[in-house]
Amino acid sequence: MRLAIAGGTGMTGRHLAAVARERGHEVVVLARSTGVELLSGAGLGTALQGVDAVIDATNVKTAKADVAVMFFAGVTKTLVSAERAAGVRHHLALTIVGADAAPEGYYAGKLAQERLVADGGVPWTILRATQFHEYAALMFHRTHAGAHVAPTGRVQPIAVREVARHLVDLAERGPVGRAVDLGGPREESLSDMVRRYAQAIGYRGPVPAVRTPGPIGRALRSGALLPGPEALRGTQTFTEWLAGLPDV
Ligand SMILES: NC(=O)c1ccc[n+]([C@@H]2O[C@H](COP(=O)([O-])OP(=O)(O)OC[C@H]3O[C@@H](n4cnc5c(N)ncnc54)[C@H](OP(=O)(O)O)[C@@H]3O)[C@@H](O)[C@H]2O)c1
Repeated sequence: MRLAIAGGTGMTGRHLAAVARERGHEVVVLARSTGVELLSGAGLGTALQGVDAVIDATNVKTAKADVAVMFFAGVTKTLVSAERAAGVRHHLALTIVGADAAPEGYYAGKLAQERLVADGGVPWTILRATQFHEYAALMFHRTHAGAHVAPTGRVQPIAVREVARHLVDLAERGPVGRAVDLGGPREESLSDMVRRYAQAIGYRGPVPAVRTPGPIGRALRSGALLPGPEALRGTQTFTEWLAGLPDV
């Protein structure tokens, strides 16, 4: 299969490209660094020639709803319109378990993406996955007034490689609409994860717990971002992921 990976140079995208190549698929990477701008569509028409399926793993790092909506809606509209023109038969998007429990900030962008994929006229699959193990690192490095903090919340983190394998499985299977959610093997405390990550990389300063304000903070603490009983489960635990971090 000829598989285009939007955001194929990013954290998830690199795993997707590697998994797809291991399975013998031909991979086309769509990213600015490979000459494709997915908001304007520059370079996209040529890149999609002969492509069977597109997996969208693009991202924007923001907590602002307007920025997230502009990015995810913009990229999705550009992609599906170019896919229709090129005769692509399957569009796959990766979004987040529980995104609709707190439709604000970054999640507002993910919901806009889901709606546009479903209405875009290209047969589609949407996979919602839980936070990756790397979420602990993201939270640790997102300092507040120069201080490291550990947001409280209930999460069920998953290995990004397992998400990539599952997305390539779904691409091989064909469009299913909303796929069954995918979560990690066990629930973790987000603040513990952040502190354990800090320790693992040799940080010895304080990492006080903080409550994330607003609907996202409430969703995190209430368990609304956890996978339901019907969800599929990955296997690598956060402890195993930590053990695999390079020595500092
Ligand atoms: N992190 C999590 O815990 C988690 C959990 C579930 C789902 N997800 C979803 O996984 C997806 C991927 O996230 P990630 O953290 O792996 O992404 P990432 O590492 O931030 O990579 C983003 C990718 O998007 C490309 N990109 C950004 N703007 C672009 C533009 N205007 N035109 C073309 N390419 C553009 C980047 O390449 P260039 O810079 O070269 O353009 C890069 O390849 C996101 O949709 C996210 O919502 C994440």
